[in-house]
Amino acid sequence: MSDSPDLSVVNVGLLGCGIVGTQLVQLLEERRATLAIHTGMRLELAKIAVRSISKDRGLPIDESMLTTDAQSLVDDPSVDVIVEVIGGIEPARSLILDALKAGKPVVTANKELLANVGAELYAAAEANGVDLLFEAAAAGAIPIVRPLRESLLGEDVRRVMGIVNGTTNYILTRMTDDGVSYAEALSEAQRLGYAERDPTADVEGYDAGAKAAIMASIAFGANVVAGDVYHEGIAAITQDDIEFARLFDYTIKLLAIAEVYRGDSETAEVYRGDSETAEVYRGDSETGDTAEQEIGVRVYPAMVPNDHPLASVRGSFNAVFIEGDAAGELMFYGRGAGGRPTASAVLGDLVDAAANLQRGSFTPVPHGPRAVIRPIDALASAYYIGVTVTDNPGVLSTVAGVFGQHNVSIRAMQQQDSGEQARVAFITHTANERDVQATLSDLRHLSEVSDIHSVLRVIGS
Ligand code: NDP
Ligand code: HSE
Repeated sequence: MSDSPDLSVVNVGLLGCGIVGTQLVQLLEERRATLAIHTGMRLELAKIAVRSISKDRGLPIDESMLTTDAQSLVDDPSVDVIVEVIGGIEPARSLILDALKAGKPVVTANKELLANVGAELYAAAEANGVDLLFEAAAAGAIPIVRPLRESLLGEDVRRVMGIVNGTTNYILTRMTDDGVSYAEALSEAQRLGYAERDPTADVEGYDAGAKAAIMASIAFGANVVAGDVYHEGIAAITQDDIEFARLFDYTIKLLAIAEVYRGDSETAEVYRGDSETAEVYRGDSETGDTAEQEIGVRVYPAMVPNDHPLASVRGSFNAVFIEGDAAGELMFYGRGAGGRPTASAVLGDLVDAAANLQRGSFTPVPHGPRAVIRPIDALASAYYIGVTVTDNPGVLSTVAGVFGQHNVSIRAMQQQDSGEQARVAFITHTANERDVQATLSDLRHLSEVSDIHSVLRVIGS
């Protein structure tokens, strides 16, 4: 790190200059002078690694600033801090590990990486006494990682729930408010820079799942990985579902939910942390062994009551609820995707990392042992179930009877007729996942039911 009499210069190596990277370059330019006054540091871009030197980035940067050799930035002794906004697992993982081993703090926005190999990276950062900061990896511009890591360290966090994917929230908002088709709304989200390089990650719930794993790991002090997260995406949501939701006074949102369960051995049939082998054990007398805490973490589209604050989170905005024992409910709201909002979170981390580097300190990421995951079929929820039936006398009571046989209680019903068929939508009271699955299985065998067109969870007010 080079010093001037009044101002320390911190040289930044930027890995990636796409949607987020270009906006970081821009924001750094805009904020450099003010940051220098506030922090006494001058953040200078040393070099930028990209895939293609000739690509037009709409930035006034000299080609000599660019390289296709990302490793050379990591190895360059004049580079003090590394920012990784390439995305994906490799080469990001190796570059970050090498930077940490070289004693360079790292800032990343890469949720896929952290949700898969975060534990390895957190350990490397701690072993080398440097920062690994990733505020942008959980919900874009919203400060959520730092509150969980620092402000809420004294809190017994029980639940983290929210809308953490801007692309899917944008798509669902456009479909709901403007009747735009799913395909059209997705291509708009891509044009606006919200979607991942492969938007399957957004629409299938992997991106929200990665963020849920990261937040759960920090909130509950146990290592939750992407493979632990049960996920369903939004690709099957239709205008019909949106219309039924409206009739019931609900809005459909893709939710990420992470909960911790403690001291509940009765239901402790769980996967013991290793989602690859998915070894099931019972926390009962067979082993005499009970899990101290289990974590349930899932992403799915859900019906949210219109009077719930999450129902009014629209477009690319995200919102995260945290429920703690002493603090009660906290809600964080803001832009969850897009280059400039994300760059704001990256820049905040960069300033923090540079300041810590100057002080010779760092903030370790709280990380714990592999989580014990409670599987989805051990959970309970209210449900929205849409079926197409023949419109004949007695059909509804036959269908309702199947719900009753499996102890699933119906709370509300709406019907839309179309000739000889009727589309019927039920909202149930809270029911066990296994009972609902058994109900669905029996409904599929009824001659009166031609189709089960939708199954969504329903959350309470
Ligand atoms: P982009 O695909 O727009 O940018 C990726 C950049 O990385 C490009 O500049 C690309 O170069 C460069 N790159 C790719 N491979 C290499 C390589 N091997 N060596 C050097 N450079 C390489 O992605 P985003 O900016 O959208 O996302 C970056 C990260 O931020 C991801 O982890 C993403 O999940 C995360 N993120 C994104 C948000 C968003 O709203 N977009 C929000 C929050 C987090 P080139 O330009 O030459 O192709
Ligand atoms: N693709 C992500 C989203 C970017 O849509 O939320 C922000 O992490």
